[in-house]
Amino acid sequence: MRSPRLIEIDQQGPAGRHADLLRDLTASPALVSPKYFYDALGSSLFAAITRLPEYYPTRTEAAIFARHVDEIATQLPTGLTLIDIGAGDCEKAARLLAPFAVGSYVAVDISVDFLGDSLTRLQLQHPDLPMLGVGTDFSQRLRLPLEIGDGQRLLFYPGSSIGNFTPAQALDFLHQLRQATQGGGLLIGVDLLKPVAVLEAAYDDPLGVTAAFNRNLLRHLNQLIGSDFVLADWQHVAFFDRAQSRIEMHLEARRSLKVLWPGGERAFATGERIHTENSYKWRAEDFAALLSAAGFSRIRRWTDERAWFAVFLAQA
Ligand code: AVI
Repeated sequence: MRSPRLIEIDQQGPAGRHADLLRDLTASPALVSPKYFYDALGSSLFAAITRLPEYYPTRTEAAIFARHVDEIATQLPTGLTLIDIGAGDCEKAARLLAPFAVGSYVAVDISVDFLGDSLTRLQLQHPDLPMLGVGTDFSQRLRLPLEIGDGQRLLFYPGSSIGNFTPAQALDFLHQLRQATQGGGLLIGVDLLKPVAVLEAAYDDPLGVTAAFNRNLLRHLNQLIGSDFVLADWQHVAFFDRAQSRIEMHLEARRSLKVLWPGGERAFATGERIHTENSYKWRAEDFAALLSAAGFSRIRRWTDERAWFAVFLAQA
């Protein structure tokens, strides 16, 4: 049996991360990049979110793949290199490896430790498939290592993670994905516009898992910058902004308070917020136009019967 190879590309370094975090935390209004949701506990909380009845994206996308995977496979050459961007537990790609008859699998994620465990498990099911794990923060710039080789590439970016970028950032990232395909293709999942009540329930579930996921960010910040956020002082807020077509998540101070960290502090008034995430909801035609603007062509799409989610296949 082969063993997965692991490579880490640290694009920013701890000092750069620290400086960015303090700049954002002292901005008006304060913000924190959603990439900091995903420490070990945050990743587990996100996995729990995907199992909530209210959080429709994961199971809707999975149903689209289950129904159309063979048809999608007919559009692809066999033996391609599947490059899974934001792979996490690699579960979504795992269901495609056999139907797509892939020649090698590359999992890219911010956490190389998490990837190592996921790939080791996956290798047991596919003992002869070459696998590579790349730990890198691709939210600023997507850099892929030469070790991937020059096989025909299919970039896989599921889960509507593209929705966590503003439209301008999404266009820029799609350009980067197109370059990274080296003339291959992109398979991407995108969450679509739907009734506001459905959207808001998905991001403010009655069990409070999304609230815990949001508040865990402060616990993670306390570890990263030595701050003294008290989680009970902060309330989870999520709402749909129709004008911007996005869910916004915030943490709102329940009382007037001060947060301290080595060398700095910030006061928050009652009701003041830290903006933690945007999750854009697209019209399918607008997302297809964005793919074209990023230089993709031969765009095909598959949706569920309610048209809540779409999977796009596009050629670079
Ligand atoms: C990872 N990303 C696509 C999720 C989303 O739906 O925007 C993150 C998330 N935030 C709250 N719930 C899920």
